[in-house]
Amino acid sequence: MTSPPHVAFGHHLLRDPHGQYNALRGQAPVHHIRTPDGAPAWLVMRYHDVQAALTDLRLSVDKRFSDTDGEHGSSLPPELDAHLLNRDPPDHTRLRRLAAAAFTPRRVADQAPAVATIVDALLDGIADQDQAELIGALASPLPLQVMHELLGLPTQTSVDFRNWTNTLLSADANQPAQSRSAMATMRRFLMGQLARKRAQPGDDLLTGLLAARDDDDRFTDDELLAMVFLLMFAGYDNTAALIGNVTHALLTDAGLHDAVRAGSVDLDSVVDEVLRWNPSFPLAVRRFAREPVTPSRQAIASGSAWPARTATPHSSPNPTN
Ligand code: HEM
Repeated sequence: MTSPPHVAFGHHLLRDPHGQYNALRGQAPVHHIRTPDGAPAWLVMRYHDVQAALTDLRLSVDKRFSDTDGEHGSSLPPELDAHLLNRDPPDHTRLRRLAAAAFTPRRVADQAPAVATIVDALLDGIADQDQAELIGALASPLPLQVMHELLGLPTQTSVDFRNWTNTLLSADANQPAQSRSAMATMRRFLMGQLARKRAQPGDDLLTGLLAARDDDDRFTDDELLAMVFLLMFAGYDNTAALIGNVTHALLTDAGLHDAVRAGSVDLDSVVDEVLRWNPSFPLAVRRFAREPVTPSRQAIASGSAWPARTATPHSSPNPTN
């Protein structure tokens, strides 16, 4: 029998993440926690445990391997849930291959002028203000507008998408009706867009995903819906948080700011380092133990959830860190 979780992994902890991680790591390498959505899970905090967990096939991202306690928060309807983050190989490999046929590096590179236009327009919108709120004015609308452009969705729905996504991201167990309604509206919208692109194909990612084939294989309708949902959902909040975190690093670290301005540190490296040191979301996608596992000699029963830390800033074996 597992004892109740004793660490609530919530916003209070994230106010001083590195101090808190250090303290927790000093106490034990593995902690039984409660995640922000209320679910109990095991948190592994040492670099080698995290690295091993992320490649351990006994740990599954498929919720079917969760014990009854393992999955809380708002569950997506099955047709939005059939996406990469919930699939293990070989399903995952198959979906990735189909997505890669349409979501190519070339298609991403081709977006550069459109991204620059969107950034310019958003910055023009705050150019005459003494002060602006970065997240609302730039970080949040930017990824949504870019994803709309990339997928070929009508630009004006990016605000709706932000509202639906924010409802889902802030979903708590007390407001299931609001999440269900946001999910249903988003699903209807995406279904409509898929029908529109089927009737009128364009030169966009949505049309590309509709046409994507791997030999005789192609996406089912539910897989396609879930893929588009994941791209919008995953592409939005993480990117907005990253823009905020990079800007915060530049504004609070004068040495870094000066080095970037002088050209001795390039911005790409700053982005990579912020992703490692202060990631957009502090936990990896939850994994479920298919069979008992013992990271750092901690016994974890099958069915338990495992949100391995995505980064371990103070224990990285990389001597340059
Ligand atoms: C820029 C900041 C971003 C961060 C910090 C971020 C972070 C992550 C993380 C931590 C995972 C899960 C890894 C795992 O535990 O398995 C993930 C997966 C994924 N992300 Fe992102 N992401 C970002 C941007 C984006 C964007 C812009 C898109 C879409 C255009 C996107 C699409 C995806 C997809 C499709 C997956 C699933 C990949 C797979 O399972 O094969 N992400 N991301």
